[in-house]
Amino acid sequence: MREGLDRTELARTRRENANLRAAVDRCEDMVLITSPSGSIEHANPAFERVTGYSLGEVVGQDPRILRSGHPDEASYEEIRTQLSSGESWTGTISNRRKNGELFTEQATISPVRDAEGEIISYVRVSRDISQQLRLERDKAELEHQMRQSQKMEALGQLAGGVAHDFNNMIAAIRSNAELALTEASSASPEQLESLEDILAASERATNLTRQLLAFARKSVLTPQVLELGELIDELRSMLERLITSEIHLETKVPRTLGALRADKSQLQQVVMNLVLNARDAMSEGGHLLLEARDVLLDATHCEQHPGARPGAYVMLAVSDTGSGMTAEVQQRIFEPFFTTKDRERGTGLGLSTVFGIVQQSGGHICIYSEPDQGTTVRVYLPAVARQPESAENAPPKSTPTKAEASQVLSCRADVVAEDMSPTGGTADVLRPRERPAVRCPARGETCGGAPKALPGGDETVLVVEDDPLVLRATVNILERIGYRVLRAESGEEATLIAASFEAPIDLLFADVVMPGISGPELAQELCGTHPGLRVLFTSGYTHDIIVARRGINAKMPLLEKPFSAATLASRVRQTLDLPLDLDSAG
Ligand SMILES: Nc1ncnc2c1ncn2[C@@H]1O[C@H](COP(=O)(O)OP(=O)(O)OP(=O)(O)O)[C@@H](O)[C@H]1O
Ligand SMILES: [Mg+2]
Repeated sequence: MREGLDRTELARTRRENANLRAAVDRCEDMVLITSPSGSIEHANPAFERVTGYSLGEVVGQDPRILRSGHPDEASYEEIRTQLSSGESWTGTISNRRKNGELFTEQATISPVRDAEGEIISYVRVSRDISQQLRLERDKAELEHQMRQSQKMEALGQLAGGVAHDFNNMIAAIRSNAELALTEASSASPEQLESLEDILAASERATNLTRQLLAFARKSVLTPQVLELGELIDELRSMLERLITSEIHLETKVPRTLGALRADKSQLQQVVMNLVLNARDAMSEGGHLLLEARDVLLDATHCEQHPGARPGAYVMLAVSDTGSGMTAEVQQRIFEPFFTTKDRERGTGLGLSTVFGIVQQSGGHICIYSEPDQGTTVRVYLPAVARQPESAENAPPKSTPTKAEASQVLSCRADVVAEDMSPTGGTADVLRPRERPAVRCPARGETCGGAPKALPGGDETVLVVEDDPLVLRATVNILERIGYRVLRAESGEEATLIAASFEAPIDLLFADVVMPGISGPELAQELCGTHPGLRVLFTSGYTHDIIVARRGINAKMPLLEKPFSAATLASRVRQTLDLPLDLDSAG
């Protein structure tokens, strides 16, 4: 009788255990059970999915295998103390997947006690919140961009309103002073001097309001079809006089460059203001590079730059190897009267004027800068057919929209402008391959033509980029065209991933300028440990500036940001297909 009962109880306990196990295994959250001494006893399938470790690999191990180093040892100690006092612990932990990638868990760890109150195990229920954190960060960034754009819009209206009324007042002051001067035959020399001073002051005030009107996009423009190359040639001798002898000025303008339609003197002002800023940033000398190029902007680029529209543009890039800017300064550079220079040297109207002129001409601006690393300012102006003036040649828009002002955003996320230059171009490297080729919708929308298949592959690419938005966009594109992608937000993280990743890594795609370990340093380190590794660098600075500034190999393969999905795909494929000895890591 007793034996019969025991058997029934045993069967019931078994059933209950099986049900409990099934429940744990079906749970969407990760469940990890460890012994009091800290070795893993069970992990459910959600844990296997998120971490990449199989149950067999982790049973008997210490959960420390997941450790990322964040939080630091002190925080782990805090968790341990709380648990050993018998309490549960809830919080977020940064851990590492089997492939080395970091992820963030929202976790609750609780001690489990037996009937006598002894701790018999710990159960950790957690979920991977990395994606949610990323979305929150993106949302915050977008909201910030929107606020910036509204601020610029409001400033524009204010500046435009004030400048307009001021202009009328100045006109009255000026004409009266001129009149008085012409009728001042009996005036004393002092009186004449006073009148001339009034005229000179009103001249300065007129210049100031002109710049404010340009910022508010209320200039009277006389647009004409122009060649940027010619304009730069004409300006060159004047630019040389503006800069100091310690600054080496270089211009790179291809002979065949698309025409654009703009007001000539305003465009000259754009170039001059950018060159003057570059000069001021290089008080101890340096390299100043003016480059022009034809580019195609695709839909993805435009999504990230609300003022931009897909299409063909002429790009002017002004790069310097000067002081660069902090993120805080970059936030404000287009605001009228924002300056970091002293009163004699800067009014803070240079870039706001550039901003207004470029906007009014249907273009937009991207700035890339880091403290002590120099600056690259890219101005995109719509390309037009080289024909006599016609309505069709007009820029794509003339009435500014709210969204337009948001081009003040930092352009670090600027990933998809297609470079049409022969060196960075796509046509010459696109060739049929027996590789996965996937249509990229963003690319298809570019010019209304038939969507092109992007060259892809199945190799493993390690993407290292400190800007989260650029990182995500790059990873998305590469994954979409078939690559296995490992992502890292720093050189340090990349070395950890490379050390723990068991399969070969075929390509390192790394930003050149990053805090901590730089792209070239990382490449050097990884090329030593991963003999078959190829390297493609990327940077927001232009190629020559990177070479001049960092003193690295000019032959080093570099993809300039912003890049399009098509350019990224073809340069990655091209680099992977290079014979190894040509693939120089600089
Ligand atoms: N190439 C650059 N390198 C470093 N900082 C720059 C660069 N361009 C602009 N800045 C920063 O942006 C600020 C605003 O530039 P902006 O051209 O509008 O005004 P400014 O040069 O100070 O004065 P102004 O142009 O009216 O003489 C500068 O004071 C400087 O801090
Ligand atoms: Mg300036």
